[in-house]
Amino acid sequence: MAVDLLLGLQWGDEGKGKIVDVLTKNYDIIARFQGGPNAGHTLEFDGHKHVLHTIPSGIFHDGTINLVGNGVVIDPVIFKRELDNLEKFNIDFKKNLLISRKAHLILPTHRLLDAASEASKGKAKIGSTLKGIGPTYMDKTGRNGIRVGDLEMDNWQEKYRSLADKHEAMIDFYNAEIQYDLSELEAEFFRAVEVLKTLTFIDSEEYLHKAQQEGKSILAEGAQGSLLDIDFGTYPFVTSSNTTAAGACTGLGVAPGKIKEVYGIFKAYTTRVGSGPFPTELFDEDGATMGRVGNEFGATTGRPRRCGWLDLVALRYAVQVNGVTQLIMMKGDVLSGFEKLKVCTAYNYKGETIQHFPYNIEAENVTPVYTEMKGWEADLTKMTEASQMPKALNDYIDYLEKELNVPIKIVSVGPDRKQTIIR
Ligand code: IMP
Repeated sequence: MAVDLLLGLQWGDEGKGKIVDVLTKNYDIIARFQGGPNAGHTLEFDGHKHVLHTIPSGIFHDGTINLVGNGVVIDPVIFKRELDNLEKFNIDFKKNLLISRKAHLILPTHRLLDAASEASKGKAKIGSTLKGIGPTYMDKTGRNGIRVGDLEMDNWQEKYRSLADKHEAMIDFYNAEIQYDLSELEAEFFRAVEVLKTLTFIDSEEYLHKAQQEGKSILAEGAQGSLLDIDFGTYPFVTSSNTTAAGACTGLGVAPGKIKEVYGIFKAYTTRVGSGPFPTELFDEDGATMGRVGNEFGATTGRPRRCGWLDLVALRYAVQVNGVTQLIMMKGDVLSGFEKLKVCTAYNYKGETIQHFPYNIEAENVTPVYTEMKGWEADLTKMTEASQMPKALNDYIDYLEKELNVPIKIVSVGPDRKQTIIR
């Protein structure tokens, strides 16, 4: 059985949580392959809003197995909070949640290092979520990290102490003004580790291999977005993992040839949270309207998201790097009421018109070239059938499909599970 893949095509916050939740009924296993609690996947149903950070978005479906893969970094403290929330809704996570032994742990000192590193950068800061993501992946690639499987060994606390001591020396090196009480943070961490240890740790690549042989259906769930990929994103304003399709192979141990559908998810406009270039960013009333109507505030940090028109140069690039086979357009409803819509189809780059995503996309190098389209008035939020969609929305979608050469199969018109139109 093949593995399908769902990932974000922009700078994150495309709405992956909602779509995984909608698609979950088609899959036996949902497997998260990268990132950590920097992500915030929001799901709404039955009048409740749930935000997940590390746990896959299939956890609310009875009988679906949710796997946290080896490519993920886990902060036991945040993980415990997620479990506490699930407990309130009587979710049986002891049975339905599995964790890869090869996933790395975020230590309290990783979070402190993230804060110290950002503080030392001044104006050049990345705008990190400060969840310790960068320092944890640095320890992973530097071959110093502590993995979930280590928690099953007697000497893991010695390993912990020696790494945390090293981190403290590094924090001093940054000479940043950060206040902390490590013993308090460690007490919370060790308590949370004990809770984590009550869950099932597995050799997840072996588990997924067997599951494929048994004909189980698997959906690999990404976090963040393609333009935050450590290699292909807007470096250095990126996260520290491969958010693109290849990350699912390394983050789960799935062979490339086993991947079938690649669902690419994008918003009908563009947002970005944190620092970094954003060619179509709006600083006017249109951008403010998108932010207000789209409730564009980070699910993890609460920071307002920067908003702008859809950038087809960036989207085409993401479709290409990921090999997207089906597109999913989110938040079409937020564009209702705009008389005219703009779509960026090319960049003016150092005096030339280009259609590919270049090395530098800072404002001094790039100005967007826009095509204008007619907007629509209708409120889309109550629509459930493609036949109800206004002509101008259909024209918008047809135009995007033609430009991207991939069909748009799902249009989301609100945060609830029910506000989803299948085309
Ligand atoms: P970090 O991954 O927390 O170090 O953050 C690096 C950059 O990625 C910052 O600009 C963050 O705002 C951004 N980022 C990280 N996770 C997410 C996410 O889930 N959604 C949107 N942006 C994110």
